[in-house]
Amino acid sequence: MCGIVGYTGNKRASGILLGGLKQLEYRGYDSAGIAVMDQNKITVVKASGRLENLCRRTNDGDSVPGGAGIGHTRWATHGAPTEENAHPHLSNDGRFAIVHNGIIENYLSLREELIAEGYHFESETDTEVIVHLIDMYYDGDMRSALAKAASRLEGSYALGVICTEEPDKIYAAKEASPLIVGAGIGENFFASDVTALVSHTRNVIYLEDGEFAELSPDSIRITDCFGKVIDKKVSRISWDVQAAEKGGYEHFMLKEIMEQPAAVSAAISPRIKDGRIVFDELSITAEELKHIHKIVITACGSAYYAGCAGKYAIEQLCRIPVTMELASELRYSDPLIDDHTLLIVISQSGETADTIAALKECKARGARTLAVVNVVGSAIANLADDCVYTWAGPEIAVATTKGYTTQVSVLYMLGVYFGELLGKVGDQYDYLVDELLLLPRRVQETIDMNPGIEALAEKYHNSKALFFIGRNTDYATALEGALKMKEISYLHAEAYAAGELKHGTIALIEEHQPVIALCCNPLIMEKTLSNIVEVKARGAEVLALTFRSNDKIVSSADDLLFIPKTTALFSAVTEVVPLQLLAYYVAKANGCDIDKPKNLAKSVTVE
Ligand code: BG6
Repeated sequence: MCGIVGYTGNKRASGILLGGLKQLEYRGYDSAGIAVMDQNKITVVKASGRLENLCRRTNDGDSVPGGAGIGHTRWATHGAPTEENAHPHLSNDGRFAIVHNGIIENYLSLREELIAEGYHFESETDTEVIVHLIDMYYDGDMRSALAKAASRLEGSYALGVICTEEPDKIYAAKEASPLIVGAGIGENFFASDVTALVSHTRNVIYLEDGEFAELSPDSIRITDCFGKVIDKKVSRISWDVQAAEKGGYEHFMLKEIMEQPAAVSAAISPRIKDGRIVFDELSITAEELKHIHKIVITACGSAYYAGCAGKYAIEQLCRIPVTMELASELRYSDPLIDDHTLLIVISQSGETADTIAALKECKARGARTLAVVNVVGSAIANLADDCVYTWAGPEIAVATTKGYTTQVSVLYMLGVYFGELLGKVGDQYDYLVDELLLLPRRVQETIDMNPGIEALAEKYHNSKALFFIGRNTDYATALEGALKMKEISYLHAEAYAAGELKHGTIALIEEHQPVIALCCNPLIMEKTLSNIVEVKARGAEVLALTFRSNDKIVSSADDLLFIPKTTALFSAVTEVVPLQLLAYYVAKANGCDIDKPKNLAKSVTVE
């Protein structure tokens, strides 16, 4: 989604703004721009397409002097990805410039009102109404004008504003879209994401909804809409720029796949002390849990599929019905949610609009809410009653990998933890905790057991379509495996419940049709074996993912991928890894833009 940056200090703002935008490219965009203040005059430079077009047009910032400014990468929502629609947008008299991430849902009525007031519009964007509102309300007090303008807006926004009357200040406002302040020495910043700040400062302030920031080189002032100063905690970013760089890998995605043993360990190990699972961040009690009649898990994309994988463990261990709901569906389905419902909401970014909306809808209906999120201080993390961070570290590749496996790991732990609180786990507890502690090593073993995936990808990269089949927990992983293949290699791929093949899908099987069969759940492996035989009888070529010891599957398949033996309830965290690598190498063989797949965004913060 859109990314915004702001700088004020004693350095050349334009170079810092462009560097910050480079760190935000992964969010997905189709145009970019900067506005810089120099001697009470604002210079705006914009360019459609990739950021290098803007860098070229500004001579990497050298041709745009000034010590304060704002920048933006735009992912088009209202208005085509043209230069006119790119941010920043100027007021008619050039006194104000604005950048915005989010959607203003009542912009059309505001636009009509402003045109009636004599304002003219340069763009088709919703954002432009904001800069004219600020102009209309400005009476010498910038913060008050911004707050009045914000009070007219319905929807989501992270705003950055500069004003020629206050040349060394930059202003920010937050509602539903992420915005973080970076505190420097003789300089201050804001950005949509800490990756744009961490090379300058590790001291950050997470703005919350309804908060405003006024930054000068030597001061940071956070207020509410009435101008009342809010005392905010300064957080320290522990990871450094290298953590957000590729670390020697060709793509962020491969780096993040290889980081999974460490990421899964970071999610699990700190929460197991003396053989007991400890969730210091959870406030829900055993009594409150006994009040829960059903658990609903909601999310989007891979986060939804992480829920599909975790559902089996939670349902099995807690003996409470667990239903999966796509957030984009749940928010409009008039859901049967009440105070006997525990809503588990999963999101890597914590900013996905559909997921936020579903969470708000369920909260309004009385649900107890628990977020499983990676980005600290994100909207979903702040909105839910409880939040369990996945601690995966920064995930830059648009297609999630460690974000997914750490989400599933947290769900497994919650299943054991809640099951124990409810007295349903009994004497399995110690075994399950040991199995959790073994997961990081098993992920590493899985990577080591499959050195030939790149060669295998050569065989599949020209396929017209790929089938992923599995049952129960294997089916949940098949869903994520198919999505990985689609989103980065652009090959058509679908996951099918293996038992469903005979009810239609098998009609699609033809000579040499690649079928990836997941056979890692001993409880139903025989059944999946019969599906392998079925599809092979019709000419399919089967790549089976299973344990080395599974002789029947090993002898039936044309190609093999392996995972170490693990309890079926916890298999998704290892089972998905070969599928991530297969998708990665197929995409590489196809020359795809692996870290920034076409049409996709790391976090879809608009509906
Ligand atoms: C998509 C991402 O846009 O959003 C996926 O490309 C992700 O990787 C999905 O799974 C949900 O995002 P989040 O941040 O809510 O997990």
